[in-house]
Amino acid sequence: MHQPEMSSRETNIFMDYNATTPLAPEVVECMQDALVNCWSNPSSSYARGIGAAEKIKEARKYLAALVGTPHHEDIIFTSGGTESNNMVINGIVKYFKEWNQKQSKPLSGIPHVITTNVEHDAVILPLKHLQEEGLIDVSVIPVTNKGVVEADDILSAVRPTTSLITVMMANNETGVIMPISEIGRKLQGVNRKRLASGLIKILYHTDAAQAIGKIPVDVEELLVDYLTVVGHKFYGPRGGCLYVRGPFTATPVYPMFYGGGQENGIRPGTENTLIAIGMGKAAFLAKQYFNQNQSLFICFRKYLEEMLKMTFGESAVIHFRDPDVPFLPNTCSVAFLTRDKGITASAILSSCKQLEASVGAACHKDGSLSKILLNSGISSDLARCTIRLSIGMLTTKNEIDLAIKDLVNSIQKLEKTLKVVQS
Ligand SMILES: Cc1ncc(COP(=O)(O)O)c(C=O)c1O
Repeated sequence: MHQPEMSSRETNIFMDYNATTPLAPEVVECMQDALVNCWSNPSSSYARGIGAAEKIKEARKYLAALVGTPHHEDIIFTSGGTESNNMVINGIVKYFKEWNQKQSKPLSGIPHVITTNVEHDAVILPLKHLQEEGLIDVSVIPVTNKGVVEADDILSAVRPTTSLITVMMANNETGVIMPISEIGRKLQGVNRKRLASGLIKILYHTDAAQAIGKIPVDVEELLVDYLTVVGHKFYGPRGGCLYVRGPFTATPVYPMFYGGGQENGIRPGTENTLIAIGMGKAAFLAKQYFNQNQSLFICFRKYLEEMLKMTFGESAVIHFRDPDVPFLPNTCSVAFLTRDKGITASAILSSCKQLEASVGAACHKDGSLSKILLNSGISSDLARCTIRLSIGMLTTKNEIDLAIKDLVNSIQKLEKTLKVVQS
């Protein structure tokens, strides 16, 4: 098992690796070196500039290898997952317009996009924005009560104007893995027929932010045109990239920014050498240690779930464990049923002394019930007391034991307080 020594974790127990991950020590080391030695502008033609450009190329190769392609030019560095998703979604309006301009019989209407009702806001909100502007139509396909979308439900929403399908690879809150390859295979058949009958090709995107480093991600198996990668979810820095299958040649791609022509003009702006190098290193490690890391996640997540069951019995309800639905090896979405229904997941976490975990996704701060859980078939009563425990490379059995104790103490304390208030 690859369990590097990272930062000290004496007091806090971090079980929120789906929100973000600490930097791997090797990543810190190579970024420190890059800070000092790789500050030249990669576009400069003298030796140090060329050296910086070489480092970025190397990083691009590692990221390409991580997602299963030898074509490093298919990797476009971005600021993160949000930007990568926005780039794909915003591009659809131009894609449809350009395609239509080349047709003798253009399609009437606006481009249509298909997605699911459990996507991250970095997909949902740009879609909603374009829809409100009257620029696209969107079909939001509900997942089943097992939290997974059915490939056939996605494909049966296809219309003549459909230009994009975007479905996340794995859900950040539930851990449920979506049938991306199956949709990809079926879509190939649909696209063949569409091309023969003069309809626009449907482009296919997956947001793989939560999948990378936890489950195999291979663009050739997934059959996607675009794939979103987020560095800080696999022990790299806060940057991202977008895989585009043959930018401009096989797959259209449209920049959101215009400037100095970097990243093949797709994402101009002087390259963030430091972040690119750090992400490259994290990608190298994620690929190199994939099997060890995955076994570690499986082993410790199973232990966590056994301990939850042993300690809380029927009072700990672990969601999304249908044998037919695959899930991320590190994610445990669990509801704590307390004697008093008024005890919420937020209250439990707030009164924990050491455990750092999330109620739903860390990104949603307004305290409302998680739409993702509700849409995935969890009742509001259960959603209210559901905590997402996501483990990672630093997790140990001892930490799991301490986290369980912390949860027990927290719930007991809350129950006592409520009893006193009620009496
Ligand atoms: C599934 C998914 N997509 C996209 C993002 C957005 O990534 P970022 O906030 O780094 O841009 C996240 C982050 O939580 C995520 O979990």
